[in-house]
Amino acid sequence: MANVPSDVSDTHGTQLDGIHDAQPYDWDDYEAYFRDKPAYHSQEEALMAILSELSFESVFEVGPGFGRITALILNQWPAVAQDYTLLDISEAMIEATSKNLPTVDFLYFIGSISVPLDAGIWASPQLPIKADLVLAVEVLMHIHPNEIMQAVDNLLGAISDNGCLVTVDWTVPRPNEPFGQNWRHDYPNLFLAAGARTIQATLVGLQTIYVVEV
Ligand SMILES: C[S@@+](CC[C@H](N)C(=O)[O-])C[C@H]1O[C@@H](n2cnc3c(N)ncnc32)[C@H](O)[C@@H]1O
Repeated sequence: MANVPSDVSDTHGTQLDGIHDAQPYDWDDYEAYFRDKPAYHSQEEALMAILSELSFESVFEVGPGFGRITALILNQWPAVAQDYTLLDISEAMIEATSKNLPTVDFLYFIGSISVPLDAGIWASPQLPIKADLVLAVEVLMHIHPNEIMQAVDNLLGAISDNGCLVTVDWTVPRPNEPFGQNWRHDYPNLFLAAGARTIQATLVGLQTIYVVEV
């Protein structure tokens, strides 16, 4: 009950069951949980192997979270720090990435990838970005089906000449947990509808890493 005001729990009753045990977030614990998860180690290994096959001098990373993948990329390819742009719907996530990588001077935007290119954040003179590597790891899973086409259009539109989009999302259902992976979109058809020329898919556990060229 600690962090749920009594009037809220009284009013909403069972809707808040389970929330009553919640503790205030501890960022260090949160990050450590994801850093130490064995499934993430195989995901990261597979992703880094795929990125090693690519050639890129600029990165546009959407949804960096606390910079889990950002840190791996900058560790292996420090030169891309010169041209590394972040976009996240959450200011707290941009702050977390910057805090974890304090020496990098990111260009960043706070806004949604699923908003049309002439609206909101995209109306900034510095956007739309063009980057050799457009990256979205476990981000499209959060986009509502009504908005996913716009998000995929925006991502493909951000790819520079000879660049590519790399995404990682759940594609295989997890038994007994139908909603735990948020949305599992039909990624190949979405990429094709947005103008993809080639799509390379690599299954890693229950997730697929896509490399998309236009
Ligand atoms: C599951 S986390 C993944 C974080 C990081 N990529 C990783 O794999 O560790 C999802 C991230 O996407 C961001 N996000 C969710 N919806 C978004 C949207 N519509 N536009 C931009 N970022 C979004 C969240 O704020 C969060 O940083």
